[in-house]
Amino acid sequence: MKKNKNSDGKIDSLLVSKPVKTYSLLAKTFHWGFVIVFFYGIFKQVDELEQLADNSLLRLEMAFAVAFLLMLVARFIYMKKTQTSAIPTNTSNLQKSAAKIVHYGLYACLASIAVSGMSIGTLYWANIKSGFVIEFVISVHEFSFTVIYGLIAIHITAALYHRFLQDGVWNSMVPFWKEQTKLD
Ligand code: HEM
Ligand code: HEM
Repeated sequence: MKKNKNSDGKIDSLLVSKPVKTYSLLAKTFHWGFVIVFFYGIFKQVDELEQLADNSLLRLEMAFAVAFLLMLVARFIYMKKTQTSAIPTNTSNLQKSAAKIVHYGLYACLASIAVSGMSIGTLYWANIKSGFVIEFVISVHEFSFTVIYGLIAIHITAALYHRFLQDGVWNSMVPFWKEQTKLD
């Protein structure tokens, strides 16, 4: 490990960024691009079913949801095939499993939001504008948001916890407030 000896022979630790695993530029672009697209989706959300009577809004929502789902699938395949978590190998199995569950949960909720949104649009377009089926699909759409808000809160808390641990997980994905740690 990298150490410096100063004039009186004592070892000086260097303050440097930790040389640990980092995600590829494309992986980071997918991650942060998605954060922006997802929050844009929430910002421009449909508030009431009746709004879909506006045909151009219905088409725009459907196009957005299709593009969102395609990007999500592309991201998932790319991440699975080329990237691995930055969690240190000596982390407990319980913590590794918890991280996996939260990450897969985020993907599942994002997919569920897009698919249920597209189903709402399709049902509305097919003139099924009331009744059990469309109400059920809207409940799935809304429930997916309740779950994902919880998962995002856990995910950000865990990322901050790793930032505090200074184990390199934060630096692997986050381009700001970088860890500076003593190599000793
Ligand atoms: C300020 C907000 C956020 C921070 C600081 C953050 C931080 C991180 C960090 C440090 C990792 C790497 C974890 C590891 O290597 O095991 C990661 C991965 C991940 N993050 Fe976030 N994240 C944020 C927001 C989000 C949001 C809003 C989502 C989803 C809606 C999300 C979804 C994911 C997923 C699925 C992964 C696993 C890697 C992948 O497949 O892309 N993150 N995040
Ligand atoms: C990825 C794409 C989408 C995002 C991010 C999104 C976002 C949201 C959000 C944040 C809500 C509020 C949920 C809540 O109350 O907890 C919502 C509700 C809703 N969305 Fe989406 N949505 C998407 C796709 C769609 C699509 C494609 C349609 C239909 C064409 C649609 C139709 C609706 C309707 C009808 C509601 C509920 C209105 C009500 O409560 O009566 N959404 N959406």
